[in-house]
Amino acid sequence: MKADLILYDIGQLITSRELEENHIEILENGYLAIKGDKIIGVGTGEVPTSFIQFDTKFVRIGKKVVSPGLVDSHTHLVHGGSREHEFSMKIQGVPYLEILAAGGGILSTLKATREASLEDLIEKTKKSLRYMLELGVTTVEAKSGYGLSLEQEIKQLEATKLLNHLQPVSLVSTFMAAHATPPEFKGRTGEYVEEVIKMLPEIKKRNLAEFCDVFCEEGVFSVEESRKILSKAKELGFQLKIHADEVVSLGGVNLAGELQAVTAEHLMVITDEGIEALKKGNVIADLLPATSFNLRHDYAPARKILEAGVQVALSTDYNPGSCPSENLQFVMQIGAAHLKMTTEEVFKAVTINGAKAVCREKEIGSLEVGKQADIAVFDVPNAEYMLYHFGVNHTDSVYKAGKLVYQR
Ligand code: NIG
Ligand code: FE
Repeated sequence: MKADLILYDIGQLITSRELEENHIEILENGYLAIKGDKIIGVGTGEVPTSFIQFDTKFVRIGKKVVSPGLVDSHTHLVHGGSREHEFSMKIQGVPYLEILAAGGGILSTLKATREASLEDLIEKTKKSLRYMLELGVTTVEAKSGYGLSLEQEIKQLEATKLLNHLQPVSLVSTFMAAHATPPEFKGRTGEYVEEVIKMLPEIKKRNLAEFCDVFCEEGVFSVEESRKILSKAKELGFQLKIHADEVVSLGGVNLAGELQAVTAEHLMVITDEGIEALKKGNVIADLLPATSFNLRHDYAPARKILEAGVQVALSTDYNPGSCPSENLQFVMQIGAAHLKMTTEEVFKAVTINGAKAVCREKEIGSLEVGKQADIAVFDVPNAEYMLYHFGVNHTDSVYKAGKLVYQR
């Protein structure tokens, strides 16, 4: 087959093809052949002439790193407003859950999101997606959960759906009305849980989300309430995610195992028994170390989780409260420095495991023949360097479905 585009003389080509024991393939002096939106050849050394025709475009990469387009598998992407006014409270030591209980936090963003029009949300979110693209991210999971009524949740999810067509980054949508109890249900969380359950069929009917997620946390939703919502969601054909063990270890991870959720997310305070539950249920641990960094909380015990044989993804958690940053490269750098993950584990966590965390591993997440040509080029001499030199954007260029969509 003839290629439209060939990237060649690639210093380091991280294909993210999975090898044994959490290793991934990294090729020296590699090439990628692309036709249309797909990869048709991956190898090392000289590019076989069978890929070349008179109008094949050649791009020489040289001493840089090429990886699959990064996947940010946990974000609260679409929201109104910002919360810099709470930042100084947090620095002075007021706990995250206390700010929420006092009507701030998620509830403050709730107000701003309800006040925003669909167009406002789209315009604001476009800016975040542009940052993400420039950081090498080509697929992003986006949760709702700042509307907290059927109509307002639909507005957020509609914004996500439209944004999928308005810019190059692909979005995977998650319904998360169980993010907090809205003020109109204050003191009646049980009733709000019933309300969320009633929303599910409508969201499904409108095809607005593939996943359902619940914030299972002390003072937010209990394990029993989470079980009610997630069981119903599963019955309706949603894939499941759960925010678990972020601040207090409640048992949300056991529920994830029991319901065979795709991911359990955060896990800063997960116990050994919780890790066992993830392993048994084949649940991916989606870790968000930039949230620990920003809230000055514990980091998830990534080494223990990895050594137990659980698959790990890394993501930003981008949201206006606990992690106001779209920077997945920074997350990778903290993944190395604070979660003590190896370079291969970090790249795996934001490529093929990120893809698995959003059930897209058949199409994206690795550079293999037949997969979509979502490719990030980083201006670094090797993969380790990218994790070592932190706080700057290393992206040189980004290809989405075979098309150049960003060039520094
Ligand atoms: O993942 N934990 C719940 N939700 C977000 C925070 C959302 C917010 O503070 O607005 C999180 O940390
Ligand atoms: Fe989150």
